[in-house]
Amino acid sequence: MNTEGRTAGLDPIETASADELQSLQLERMRQSVRHTYDNVAPYRKKCEATGVTPDDLQSLSDISKFPFTYKADLRENYPFGLTAVPMDDVVRIHASSGTTGKPTVVTYTQNDIHNWADLVARCIRASGGQRKDLLHVAYGYGLFTGGLGAHYGAERMGCAVIPMGGGQTSKQVQLIRDFKPRIIMITPSYMLNVIDEMERQGMDPRESSLKIGIFGAEPWTGSMRTEIENRLGIDAIDIYGLSEVGGPGVANECIETKDGPTIWEDHFYPEIINPETGEVLPEGEYGELVFTTLTKEAMPMIRYRTRDLTRLLPPTSRSMRRMDKITGRSDDMLIIRGVNIFPSQVEEIALKIDGLSPHYQLTVERDGHMDSLSVRVEARESLDAGSIAKLGSELQHQIKSLIGLNMVVDVVPPGDVERSEGKAKRVIDKRPSNP
Ligand code: DLL
Repeated sequence: MNTEGRTAGLDPIETASADELQSLQLERMRQSVRHTYDNVAPYRKKCEATGVTPDDLQSLSDISKFPFTYKADLRENYPFGLTAVPMDDVVRIHASSGTTGKPTVVTYTQNDIHNWADLVARCIRASGGQRKDLLHVAYGYGLFTGGLGAHYGAERMGCAVIPMGGGQTSKQVQLIRDFKPRIIMITPSYMLNVIDEMERQGMDPRESSLKIGIFGAEPWTGSMRTEIENRLGIDAIDIYGLSEVGGPGVANECIETKDGPTIWEDHFYPEIINPETGEVLPEGEYGELVFTTLTKEAMPMIRYRTRDLTRLLPPTSRSMRRMDKITGRSDDMLIIRGVNIFPSQVEEIALKIDGLSPHYQLTVERDGHMDSLSVRVEARESLDAGSIAKLGSELQHQIKSLIGLNMVVDVVPPGDVERSEGKAKRVIDKRPSNP
């Protein structure tokens, strides 16, 4: 165990050898699969249909013999059908509404809450946070896992938490100005909104007390990181998580390398699969991220299909593997006249053009049988018609040459694109829904 230098204060497992980590993972994976099989009837039925039993799990890679769990499984067993413990042992329930259908519900035991707080505290430490810090939480509180997840982790860390929650943007700025937090946990799109509000209130964002931002809950690009770091004068760190697997704190970047979130592999076992065939892909290839929870009691997940597209990267600052920035979700991918496109690609391109802001929204429409895509993106400042037209044609040209798609581009004045107070809505789909 290395407790010197920058690894001081880390959990011993964060610097353990690969062998130590893998043997812990295998032991925990066997317990988790057994627990799920014994206590979650819908999952056991899936196993029985494929003829696999917990005894077939002899090595970590044997997990690939087990059936996947999908978001649809949570919906079909709404609300508590995948809960593996008596409801008497459940102490917390979260849910995400999604855009259609029933919410997906997740349950936690006291131990689950305890582990979750430990992991989020680990994330805050990896982001450069310390016990003595004041930490402002602007993720939404309530059924969403962001607010309470961040809150418990920050308290576990020993920080003084400001439980602001999402919304009330001018109050966010007032509290930052008056309380002087060093750390903020917030979605990156809402951070931009708060930065704009600081400027509106006559404050120089770089003069604020904030030094570290822990950003997640939605995809954001490297260009967005640069934008936020420059405008606010902070380190912008990526935190990843999803409710079904536990909430925020499944993975977090380390401030010393900022090279993609380290997956807390002692609690979550990752795989990357081909989203079409379900086949496990070799390390380093891009595909869909799949997680098996190793310690969750109330709602263990075996091979949960996140729909998030990324790849696994070797360990750097910790003994555990990292994930690359998420390029998009397989269900956010738009296919327009045969071209695959993710909203984040437009963000990346727009932010490389001087004069365009990171505030954008895509609209998909259907004209007859043809889908068309347009983008509204804000100029950084009020400009004359000629300059607006020039920016628009530059963006259109870049999109055409880099993505291969003719897109209608509308550059609009500052403030015209809907602002986010949580997860940004990047796509408006106006196509008639399929029957
Ligand atoms: O967004 C949990 C969370 C809260 C994570 C606060 C980080 C910070 P859900 O609402 O279930 O949970 O949404 C999960 O959001 O599958 C990804 O598609 C996306 N997502 C979360 N973090 C990131 C990130 C929370 N750092 C879904 N980068 C996930 C890209 C992210 N996408």
